[in-house]
Amino acid sequence: MRLDKFVAKASNVPRSKAKKLITSGLVTVDNELCKSVGLIISEQQLVSLSGKPLSYRQQRYILLNKPKGYICSTKDEQHPSALNLLGMTSLAKLHFAGRLDVDTSGLVLISDDGQWTHRVTSPRYKQPKNYIVEITTPLSDEQQQQLEKGILLKDSEKVTLPAVVSVIDNDKISLTITEGRYHQVKRMLAAVGSHVTGLHRESIGHLKVGEELNSGEWRYLTEQEIAGF
Ligand code: URA
Repeated sequence: MRLDKFVAKASNVPRSKAKKLITSGLVTVDNELCKSVGLIISEQQLVSLSGKPLSYRQQRYILLNKPKGYICSTKDEQHPSALNLLGMTSLAKLHFAGRLDVDTSGLVLISDDGQWTHRVTSPRYKQPKNYIVEITTPLSDEQQQQLEKGILLKDSEKVTLPAVVSVIDNDKISLTITEGRYHQVKRMLAAVGSHVTGLHRESIGHLKVGEELNSGEWRYLTEQEIAGF
């Protein structure tokens, strides 16, 4: 699609206004200033206006690298909402596809498409979620086996589904689970006699946060990434 058409659709302005925005140097393509209104751009390219990424989809699908200190909700007087990090004027209908605790960092998916967020979070679809977990003492083989097999959490009647665990070093493990129960990782580690001191979500399903986004940064998902759920 031509750049001027994309900017017009994405920011809901006439094509003539979009051309002006481009020629006045407010638009970047893949983080490079671009003044060529007729440039043909592909779906994978990142187009930004005044530093903010654009998407012309009706609905929004966002991947955020959440820092600690932000909550995945809008109602809390003590901590700011992670939605504030998006810097958007309209947050209408945006909600989290699975929450992270205030002291957990990493991948959070946000959208205003409820059917899509349901596919991401519903236990029915068993989307794997990978966490890097910092713990106080080395994980024993027995503790690892318990986590892998499934355990009964405090105040719960159902054993957790089998997890995939690998030890990274003495105070760090990788844990992949397919459920999203309340404080699940912390409760699982507590149930085997360990204690979580740091938690970071690295991936949900096929989406990884990796090193591409710094803490607090976000981007729109591509069509292919959206369709993967
Ligand atoms: N499990 C937790 O205990 N906390 C999180 O933030 C995510 C998973």
